[in-house]
Amino acid sequence: MSDGFTRREMIGASALALTLAAGPASGTPQPAAAVNPRRRERLERWRFHFGHAADVEKDFGFGRDQRTFAKAGQSADAAMPKFDDSGWAPVIVPHDWAVALPFAEAPAAKGSDRGAAHGFKAIGRAFPENSVGWYRTPIGVGAADRGKRIWLEFDGVFRDAWVFVNGYAAHRNESGYAPFGVRIDEFLDYDGGPNVITVRCDATLGEGWFYEGAGIYRHVDLVRADPLHIPQWGTFVRTDLRADGAHLELATELVNERATPAAVVLKQWVIGPDGSVAATLSDLAFGLAPGEERTTRQGAMLRNPRLWSLEERNLYRLRSELYVDGQLVDAVLTRFGIRSIRFDPERGFFLNGQPVKLLGTCNHQDHAGVGAGIPDALHRWRVAQLQEMGSNAWRSAHNSPATALLDACDEMGMLMICEQRINSSSEEALSELERMIRRDRDHPCVILWSLGNEEPHQATARGARINTELQEHARRLDPTRPTTFAMDQGWDNGIGRVVDVLGFNYRTNQIEAYHARHPQQPVYGSETGSTVATRGEYANDKAGHIVRAYDTEHPWWATTAEEWWTIVAERPYIAGGFVWTGFDYRGEPTPFDTMPSISSQFGILDTCGFPKDNFYYYRAWWRPDRPLVHLLPHWNWPGREGLPIEVWAHGNTEEVELRLNGSVLGRKAMPRNGHLVWRVPYAPGKLEAIGFNDGRVAARAVRETTGPARSVRLTLDRRIAKAGEVVIANAKVVDARGRRVPTADNLLRFRAIGGEVIGVGNGNPNSLEADIARERRAFNGLAQAIVRVRRGPVDVSVASDGLKGSRMRIVTL
Ligand code: GAL
Repeated sequence: MSDGFTRREMIGASALALTLAAGPASGTPQPAAAVNPRRRERLERWRFHFGHAADVEKDFGFGRDQRTFAKAGQSADAAMPKFDDSGWAPVIVPHDWAVALPFAEAPAAKGSDRGAAHGFKAIGRAFPENSVGWYRTPIGVGAADRGKRIWLEFDGVFRDAWVFVNGYAAHRNESGYAPFGVRIDEFLDYDGGPNVITVRCDATLGEGWFYEGAGIYRHVDLVRADPLHIPQWGTFVRTDLRADGAHLELATELVNERATPAAVVLKQWVIGPDGSVAATLSDLAFGLAPGEERTTRQGAMLRNPRLWSLEERNLYRLRSELYVDGQLVDAVLTRFGIRSIRFDPERGFFLNGQPVKLLGTCNHQDHAGVGAGIPDALHRWRVAQLQEMGSNAWRSAHNSPATALLDACDEMGMLMICEQRINSSSEEALSELERMIRRDRDHPCVILWSLGNEEPHQATARGARINTELQEHARRLDPTRPTTFAMDQGWDNGIGRVVDVLGFNYRTNQIEAYHARHPQQPVYGSETGSTVATRGEYANDKAGHIVRAYDTEHPWWATTAEEWWTIVAERPYIAGGFVWTGFDYRGEPTPFDTMPSISSQFGILDTCGFPKDNFYYYRAWWRPDRPLVHLLPHWNWPGREGLPIEVWAHGNTEEVELRLNGSVLGRKAMPRNGHLVWRVPYAPGKLEAIGFNDGRVAARAVRETTGPARSVRLTLDRRIAKAGEVVIANAKVVDARGRRVPTADNLLRFRAIGGEVIGVGNGNPNSLEADIARERRAFNGLAQAIVRVRRGPVDVSVASDGLKGSRMRIVTL
């Protein structure tokens, strides 16, 4: 994070002022505790309305009579400050309008996929009425702001965004993923007039082959600063860990956009994880002419640094302050971590000198109920689910991640691969790469810059040329991290010969031979697996678009979990693997690509983050120190009495004994990185697996035949939340004895008194129910609501006809 004033940093900054007032720990010169003139404000509240990609009148006059760009400040009706938007819908950003659209097949055009790629949401060229969205928000500007530099920072807008300020077309940003900044101070009214930001997004075109959302689906900040300031992403802290300590190299960009020359003093110091001053740098004094830009470079040494690691997420901050004539004119906090990373061609990935197998998943930014507009707390929750499984790495496929996700990974200890979307050396693509790297290079979680994925030119000389350009650009911007590319064939050629660390998409069994041919190049599985599975289903049903959740089903190009992991686990030179995917995601419905399938079934967890059975395979072998046994399938098979049922145990204990209604059906040794199978004639009752280590019971799993559904129970991911945050509310349908009914599909109604249910889901890849709703059928006993809290207590409840409901209270801070 390279920033001044998020809410959290404000608290950090005042804590710093206190620390400094009490005297800096190091006894070095005391920085002045002056008030920072820079202000950062998060723009969360907007009004939204659909425009139209083909009808100018329904698009608020955008493009009317060639006039949008003809006269300054008159670009479109809805861009004008006095436009009446009172009929527009109030929305909170992050916002994805596509998730609320109906499902529909696009009319079949030659070669078109009818919308499967984006989950059959009615968006794209066939749906011009749904593909353009307009957002408006007023901003408070007054006389005191006159003369300031004021800009907007967008973390990601899908896509082709026109940003208007008081009717002026201030900026156009094409990419749906790259962050961007927009200077706006020239267009503002400082004399009491309204000041309105309008954003027109056109999601007619996509950039991927998966659901990508639509609209302002990541944060927007408004920044006010002195014209003499540190620009967006203007600080970079390089850390080099050596025997005598951490050597820091600080590059700080400054720009003087004042009309007069200035004698500037830059003061910088490093604040340790405990809030005390860890190092104070020498002041730098220099002159800056009007319009002059400069990058200062400073070194610092920390003798006993507290390293950032997966277990201890020590985070440092660099405070940079600019003074002119003794006055503080700008201050920025840059959060960073001190750690070393290295890919070794023989021994894999090293963090702080220790080998760490990359136990990864690939993910798109998409979740039940909210689509691509994932609130911060939900990013954190998703990271936590994967960590529970033992995962330590995330590949942001196939685009740059949200800053909120990177912050979560920094704070929670999850390694990250950031990926470039457009694999080209065009000016636009280089700029997208540059913006991602400049934004993300201070995050200790980031370990690789991925230049791309499975491009048609991957194995060609042209691909090599293009990616050499991208790589050189990446290295200029950040020489501290290697590059990678995810290839699915032709590794010996083209881009395979360019990048530092080579990714194998699937074909894990070809890595060995490649490694023998190229022993100098580090390798890993950039996409591994992937089993397809419908959560809680145990029989394939083609007509019903259901795949059984045993670890057996996969597309032709892929493998089971066990197949890839047994290869990678045994070979230290393979740095690890990234399962395609951690979570199911909308779009690219696989293995069934027609309606009603709207999401992929690759996930280890479903779109709500409910684990499928393979979760426990990974959990067993990725956290081998924690004894585990997991049994599948469920044990509700009325009418199947006496017929054999295929029973699997995942787990990591030395032996597993299976019992049915108390009788022992056998004890087996668990193969390393494997699973166990029995065929058990069905009898209702209790199926039990007992895991033994050294002959002693170490873990246990039970599947019981349940009675009918009697009540629905709620669990919240936390009971205390900050105003504005979301809480994840999971509902479970249970029988009279509190056991989840594994086939229950009751319609559940959620309420949040004092808050708001912003979306619901159930993880069923074939459900065409609305996400933006307050009711949802349970799918195999489970459903989820995302609840936004306001100030004051929130009572969340779930009810269902004929079932006893439940209610829980969230306290807000
Ligand atoms: C890969 C691709 C992914 C996804 C996956 C499905 O080829 O990189 O984005 O499409 O296949 O198996």
